[in-house]
Amino acid sequence: MFSSTLPIQFLLGRSETMKIRWNDFPHVYEMQQFSAEDMEAIIGHTLAMEDAMAALKPLPRLSQPHPWNVRLLFYEPSTRTEMTFIDAALALGCNFHAVKDPKTFSSAIKGESSFAAVAAYGCTGGMGYLRQSDMLIIRHNEDNATRRAAEIINAALDDKEPRLSLAAINAGDSKNQHPTQALVDLATIFKERQNGSHPLDDLTVLFPGDLQRSRVINSLLYSFGKFGHDHHISVIFCCPKGFGPKVEILEYLARHHVAFEFRFKKNDFVGSLPEADVVYMNRLQRERVKIGEKKIRRKRRRAYVFWADYLRYLKDGAFVMHPLPINEDPADPPPEIDPKLMPLAHTNDLRCAWFRQSHRGKPMRTALLDIIFAAMDEEMTAIKAI
Ligand code: CP
Repeated sequence: MFSSTLPIQFLLGRSETMKIRWNDFPHVYEMQQFSAEDMEAIIGHTLAMEDAMAALKPLPRLSQPHPWNVRLLFYEPSTRTEMTFIDAALALGCNFHAVKDPKTFSSAIKGESSFAAVAAYGCTGGMGYLRQSDMLIIRHNEDNATRRAAEIINAALDDKEPRLSLAAINAGDSKNQHPTQALVDLATIFKERQNGSHPLDDLTVLFPGDLQRSRVINSLLYSFGKFGHDHHISVIFCCPKGFGPKVEILEYLARHHVAFEFRFKKNDFVGSLPEADVVYMNRLQRERVKIGEKKIRRKRRRAYVFWADYLRYLKDGAFVMHPLPINEDPADPPPEIDPKLMPLAHTNDLRCAWFRQSHRGKPMRTALLDIIFAAMDEEMTAIKAI
């Protein structure tokens, strides 16, 4: 496989160009692959894309127009992630093909293994130069599914023939990680905390609720770890005992100088609000909760709702994020954000950031695909020159 790098203009106050190629490029399956510089470069490119999209101007693209084949395999449902990956592919002039519910509408239902599926979609194995896809974007109900796809692809491309890369991108793998959501979230914090110093300096993030099964929070915490050495980041977990992030993530935060603290009492969430720069709300992952646990959690959930009158406890410049969707099922109340706040969020109140955060999915994923396809442009040029 080629190991191309490319210059990215870093847009957060510095003017030099830098090379970006994260670990196991061009795959994206977990946040630990990225350095702080990689993430800042992607965020810089995201915010440049966002400005161009908002002003209806040509995109500041790094890649050449080319009809790359982008294939979406969503084994779990999605609204935002799927839509914005498709929008990103369209914005860059790619072909895309979304296999809706592959568990039912692909040969998975006939018992085909993931290995064979990756070989089929990727045309790896024997005649890989024919290429069915240039990028597989995978949302999966199994932890580490995209990482396994990347390993299959790497093994197939690890030969003496010069072959174009095929990228495997994690669009959320069960309760493990959701790296592109974390990049959207980081871009939001960078964009909304432009106060003269680095956006992550002296940042305190409050995470309330059930933090056990959130792939989004896992990815965001790993990303904080990459910045912990150079920026003072603190995290407050307000959750019932036993509902915090996994021990391995806490160990990672400790190793990477991110201060964290647990607060377990019922009133701790509202009591902690004045300390937070960002309140990161998250829904109960109902699809991953056992039936017996549901009743217990429903009782406790009221303590972790962001009620409308909580806005008064936020300090100046603080804001509330949520990766969405919010759980608004009337049969399973209450929603984790008070519905009274929705009109404020719709009208762009600076304290209610969740829709701006969600809309940043399109520029972020366009930037990511652009970076990857620019590298593949270089590979293609090099192969043609042989
Ligand atoms: N945040 C997020 O992943 O949303 P979807 O499940 O709608 O893609």
